[in-house]
Amino acid sequence: MKRLISASILVLAACASAPAAEAPAQAWNTLTGERPIVIAHRGASGLYPEHTMMAYKAAIAQGADFIEPDLVMTSDGVLIARHDLYLSATTDIADHPEFADRKVARQTPFGEQEDWWADDFTFPEIQNLKARQQFEGRSMEYNDTLDLVTFDEVMDLVLAEAEKGNIVGLHVEAKWPSHYASIGKGLADPILDAMKAKGLKEAGIPVYIQCFEPPFLAEVAEKSDLPLIQNMVGAPYASMMGLEYDLDAMTTDGVGADVSYVLGKHGQPTDFVARAHDAGLLVHVYTVRDDRPDAPFTDSRDELKALFDAGVDGIWADFPATAVEVRGK
Ligand code: G3P
Ligand code: CA
Repeated sequence: MKRLISASILVLAACASAPAAEAPAQAWNTLTGERPIVIAHRGASGLYPEHTMMAYKAAIAQGADFIEPDLVMTSDGVLIARHDLYLSATTDIADHPEFADRKVARQTPFGEQEDWWADDFTFPEIQNLKARQQFEGRSMEYNDTLDLVTFDEVMDLVLAEAEKGNIVGLHVEAKWPSHYASIGKGLADPILDAMKAKGLKEAGIPVYIQCFEPPFLAEVAEKSDLPLIQNMVGAPYASMMGLEYDLDAMTTDGVGADVSYVLGKHGQPTDFVARAHDAGLLVHVYTVRDDRPDAPFTDSRDELKALFDAGVDGIWADFPATAVEVRGK
């Protein structure tokens, strides 16, 4: 995978030494020198309930280069766009008396949790639910009015955009594949098969596959030539969990890094982007939120500018319009 990116760097270097027909509008410190991408984090999730058509469509209208479906799978094998396996935070399931006795405790990496779990429900059951905004201080206007969406529907959305001449990519995250493996199911084949069936490649839709779990990415690498992003748990938590990431040993095309890797506590750039780029890795950074900028920033525009200046290759943003604006066209 890294070979492809290296090849593109060589082409760019060759172009740089040739007489320039037109000066580039802006030089970027990204891995390839190309403009960094704006990834709509769960759609324009700062404005609308996450992972809904309304959130995805708004993100596309705002100029996001990629929309991000996080994927989980129902008990009958349907891939749906949800950040979590548990459903209480982003749906109205608690208000469905018919599902009251389906609330069960599970062990999670963060301890025991009693909830409703997406993989305990069939897709027809999921279709009875409506989405909710989970972050306080954001608009609740659309709560309980918007459907949960399938991966197929998200793919249909970008395919329809492409037919109109607007190419928007998919930054697809597989959620908890090790859990699915533990119950005898995999996520890699369903995701890859679904994309193949929709003809994303033939339609020219750019795709990244991202995950926090290396074995899942290794399986996808064996089964496809799609570019892969290894998500990294935020630095403080990674160290609490005993996780260590060796950039030089990574075989993915890039990393999905928490802001804390890229910017220090005073907002200054660390050496992370340089080290990742030296290792041939793209750096996509999560997550910038207008209403919750990371310290020490009080304005997300300053945070976004610091990240672009640091040379990141992509940014996940809850408010993609702001990221597009700060990046400039
Ligand atoms: O997938 C990387 C980015 O989306 C941040 O992670 O937890 O919001 O899916 P999360
Ligand atoms: Ca994600």
